[in-house]
Amino acid sequence: MEGINFNQIGVSFKGSGSYVPDQILTNPKISQKVDTSNEWIKSRTGISERRISSIGDNVTEMGYAAALSAIEMAHWDIKTIDLIILATSTPNDLFGSAPSVQAKLGAFNAVAFDLTAACSGFLFALITASQFLKGGSFKRAIVIGADQLSSFVDWNDRRSCILFGDGAGALAIEATNEFDNFIGFDMRTDGGRGSFLNLPSKNNKDSIIDDIDFLSGGFSSIQMNGQEVYKFAVKEVPIILEKLLKKMKYNSDQVDWLLLHQANQRILDSVGERLKIPREKILSNLEKYGNTSAATIPLMMDEAVRDYRIKQNDIIATSGFGAGLSWGAALIKWG
Ligand code: ACO
Repeated sequence: MEGINFNQIGVSFKGSGSYVPDQILTNPKISQKVDTSNEWIKSRTGISERRISSIGDNVTEMGYAAALSAIEMAHWDIKTIDLIILATSTPNDLFGSAPSVQAKLGAFNAVAFDLTAACSGFLFALITASQFLKGGSFKRAIVIGADQLSSFVDWNDRRSCILFGDGAGALAIEATNEFDNFIGFDMRTDGGRGSFLNLPSKNNKDSIIDDIDFLSGGFSSIQMNGQEVYKFAVKEVPIILEKLLKKMKYNSDQVDWLLLHQANQRILDSVGERLKIPREKILSNLEKYGNTSAATIPLMMDEAVRDYRIKQNDIIATSGFGAGLSWGAALIKWG
């Protein structure tokens, strides 16, 4: 960090990238493992298949691939990157996986750290990075969302194992002194409802020597009250988006794309209905990937940028929500 440039007033979106593992786990294949069916999963969630990491696909590798692709789209010299934030709940190093992404990229002038906020993680990381840019501390940032929830799913629990998949997405964002395409944001947390969705530590008591105990480290599997998470999402997401649009003096018909965390198609449809945003403006790719946690928003954004649905100056209303409980929204203009 070399000094503060107070002329930087805004953020511009320069590139996107994504990566998913090759292994495809379809609904019929899950039905061979737990008592479920393609029809049940499809009608309750909209999901048909998800990607599952194999050996060699960890959060560092996936995050690196997504980041590199965003950097290539932005046409950046890697040495000009100042900041890398990796949103993840499943780092392959509990001390942080962002530094290994930085090293693999060769982005030696960037400070790199992890940020954990489950499925809200990417949005919280994007907001965090944008504040560093607008504050004048940094010029170029890579924001990554990457998760490997398949390692923490209970593959015998049909209520949760059908939902999740692995993947990564990234955005390249830059400070500018001419305009601001990061229009506004809001973030919320309610730890009081945190027990609806957890990935808790599992500590086994052991002893170091004689009467000195210690707790060995480890994690259990995802524990979820699906109905409560569903109710939380369909209530809070429209509220936070409505408030944000109002605060920034936008109408919902000025929104070109609604880009929500890809948890369940019924949640996407319900939020769209509440905001009076028609279905053709709701971005969705969860049919192919399921819920990839911190990766869903940039994974979807990259797909829509690369197939030219999202165009320069399109207005995107986005919201992440999930464990914590945590949720947030941002209003951005692409480009
Ligand atoms: N296949 C067949 N039957 C099933 C399955 C399954 N995979 N899962 C549950 N059922 C059964 C239940 O046992 C229940 O049977 P019963 O009535 O005989 O007891 C019945 O189906 C209905 O169960 P519900 O839990 O009421 O099903 P619901 O319609 O709520 O759908 C779902 C469940 C899909 C999990 C839904 O609640 C949901 O999507 N919730 C949101 C979860 C979510 O998005 N979590 C991630 C948040 S993001 C993050 O931070 C990681």
